[in-house]
Amino acid sequence: MKELIDSLKRNRNLSPEEFAILIKEMTEEDALYLKEQAFEVKQQFYGNKVFTRGLIEFTNYCKNDCYYCGIRKSNLNAERYRLSLEDIMSCCEEGYRLGFRTYVLQGGEDLRFSDDDIVKICQSIKEKFPDCAITLSIGEKSYESYKRFKEAGADRYLLRHETADEEHYKSLHPESLSLSARKQCLYNLKELGYQVGTGFMVGSPFQTAECIAKDLAFIKELEPAMVGIGPFLPHHDTPFKDYSKGSYELTLKLIAIIRLMIPNGLIPATTALGTIHPKGREEGISWGANVVMPNLSPVRVRKQYELYDNKICTGDEAAECRACLQRRMLSVGHEIVTARGDFIPYIFEA
Ligand code: SAM
Ligand code: FES
Repeated sequence: MKELIDSLKRNRNLSPEEFAILIKEMTEEDALYLKEQAFEVKQQFYGNKVFTRGLIEFTNYCKNDCYYCGIRKSNLNAERYRLSLEDIMSCCEEGYRLGFRTYVLQGGEDLRFSDDDIVKICQSIKEKFPDCAITLSIGEKSYESYKRFKEAGADRYLLRHETADEEHYKSLHPESLSLSARKQCLYNLKELGYQVGTGFMVGSPFQTAECIAKDLAFIKELEPAMVGIGPFLPHHDTPFKDYSKGSYELTLKLIAIIRLMIPNGLIPATTALGTIHPKGREEGISWGANVVMPNLSPVRVRKQYELYDNKICTGDEAAECRACLQRRMLSVGHEIVTARGDFIPYIFEA
C-alpha cells in the first residue's frame, strides 16, 4: 500500500484499479502515511497559509430535482428566497471589510436570474472591488452564457461533476440531467479560461469504490484548478432521506489523494466536512486542504439554503464566522490570508 501511495505522489496518478485498491484496502497505518505525504506536498506549495472565500448563497430556487438535494424543486417545504443586487453588494462590502478577496456566488438553477442579471452582478462587483475574484456556482449553462459571464468579470466556476459513473449519475438525478452534459459544461468552462472547480459527494447512495476510482480518473483528465469534496448528508425532505451519511474518514483520505494528484490545487475543507464532524474543517487542512469558505449570506436567509440536515454556521454573522475559522485554523498551526488565492499553474517534471 505504501508503494501505491509513493507511486501516486511521484506520478500524480494511478490506474482506476489501483485507486480502487487504495480506497478499499487502506489500513489506519497506511492512512496516516497518506496524510503525511499529502500534508508535505501541501506545505511545499502553500505553507501554513489558508485561502478564504466568502460564500454568498443568493437564491435557493432551483429548476432541478436532484434526489439528494434539500433545495430540489419538488421540496415544497423549502422556504424559497432570492437576494437582490443590493443585498449581494452589501454582503460583498461586509466581506471586503473582513478581508475576503474572493466572492463565491452560489445558487440553485434559478431561471428568474437571467444572463443579463448575472452579468450585472459580476460587473457591479468588479466595478466596486476590482482587486477581488468572482467565482460563480450556478449550475449548467450554455457556452454563450458562460462566455458572457467571463467577459463580465467572472474568474472561476464551481460545478461538481457529482459522479463520473453513468449508471450512478442516473441513480442520483432525474432523466433531465446527464453526466455528458455536465462534463461538457466543465470542458466549455475550461476552454473559456475559467479556473474550474469540480468534485463529488463521498458516500452518496449507490456509490462504490469503483465509482470513486472513476471520479479520480475524471479529475485527472479534466485537470481542474479546484476540487471540492464533502460527505453526502441526508436531507429529511428528499428521496434520499433514509440513506446513511457518507464516511468522514474516507472524505479525509480522498482529500489527501486529491492533493497528491494536484499538488498545486485549491482544495476546500468544506462546510459538509465541518457538519459531519465538529473538527472536520481543521482535520481537512491537516489532510491536505488549503481553502475555507465561510458564509457571507445574510443571517436571515442562512437556514433556508438547506442542502442537507444540520448544516453548520446558519446562525452566525459573517464576522463571527470569519473569526471562528481564524481560530480553528490557528488551532492546527495555519493562518487565513487576505488574498485572491488564484490557481498558479505549475509545470511538473515528467
Ligand atoms: N446549483 C449549483 C450546482 O448544481 O452546481 C450549485 C448549488 S449545489 C446545491 C452545490 C453542491 O451541493 C452540489 O454540487 C452537491 O454536491 C452539494 N450537495 C447537495 N446536496 C447535498 C447533500 N445532501 N449532501 C452533501 N452535499 C450536497
Ligand atoms: Fe461559521 Fe465557525 S465558520 S461559525
